[in-house]
Amino acid sequence: MYARKDGTAWEIDAPAKLNLYLDVLGRRADGFHELETLMAPVQLSDRLQWHPSNNTGAREFSLRIDAGASPAIARDMPADQRNLVWKAVDALGRQAGVEPHGVITLTKRIPSQAGLGGGSSDAAAALLLANAAWGINYPVARLRSLAAELGSDVPFFLAGSSAVCRGRGEIVEPVVSLPRLDVVIVAPRDGVPTAAAFKMLNAPPLDARGGTHGVERSTLLELVCELKKGAIASAGRLMANSLHAVARTLCPAVERIGTHFARIACCAHMLTGSGSAYFGLMNSACQARRAAALLSSHDLGTVFATATCR
Ligand code: C5P
Repeated sequence: MYARKDGTAWEIDAPAKLNLYLDVLGRRADGFHELETLMAPVQLSDRLQWHPSNNTGAREFSLRIDAGASPAIARDMPADQRNLVWKAVDALGRQAGVEPHGVITLTKRIPSQAGLGGGSSDAAAALLLANAAWGINYPVARLRSLAAELGSDVPFFLAGSSAVCRGRGEIVEPVVSLPRLDVVIVAPRDGVPTAAAFKMLNAPPLDARGGTHGVERSTLLELVCELKKGAIASAGRLMANSLHAVARTLCPAVERIGTHFARIACCAHMLTGSGSAYFGLMNSACQARRAAALLSSHDLGTVFATATCR
């Protein structure tokens, strides 16, 4: 992820993510959950553009939501302090001693409350955008602690590649040389709030989990290995998500979508993050397009044929 200059404006794309593996190791004393997850950025993305304010001399900042691309997805998106983009520029401005200024236009394409990381990706993109547009030019490493304060997944997006993430998600180990994976994503109309999914999971405290830890860890390493070899079918058999059952309870559409995926040709299908989006791992872009067309005819939600970024 990097900011590009276009005249006096700057822009950046904010990709969605998929969790190819997600294991909840236990509940921590701080209320967060200790995770072990493999995340991959995908080509489906939002876009952020920064323009200087028209009003020369004015130093105020504003955020606009561009609903043109996907009105239903942008509908309930706040354009004020509640938006993670706003929080990100505000936090960076404070740290760097720069008054937030100019206009950021956020074009939303990634559905919210879908486990696709849209808000977190927007926050990471806003940090990089403001860092460049305001001439702060911190090295990315210096933005990491700000990113972690904004949300558990924000450091992953800042890193900009597939990664194994641990801790509450903020400890990021980049995984290089994964092949591009063709996927179909279905986001039902109803979302799953992340906090509600973790609460319903009722996970045991971290210390109580004991001996199984090493088993999952080796499954994750095996998955990374199979993906690097391009052994998509065997990789698909290793993919898993511990939040699947709670997401299915919180959003019954997840079950229905899974049933439809079970009927089409794909290597594997599962929930991403805490849902409600669900994805299928496909053998080719052509198979992904065909599957997307088929799934679109069942009124399951918004369907995307896309691919992971290398
Ligand atoms: O970090 P983020 O703001 O994205 O998390 C949203 C909510 O999801 C948290 O308030 C917490 O309830 C839950 N969560 C968690 N464990 C994690 C990540 C998120 O319990 N590792």
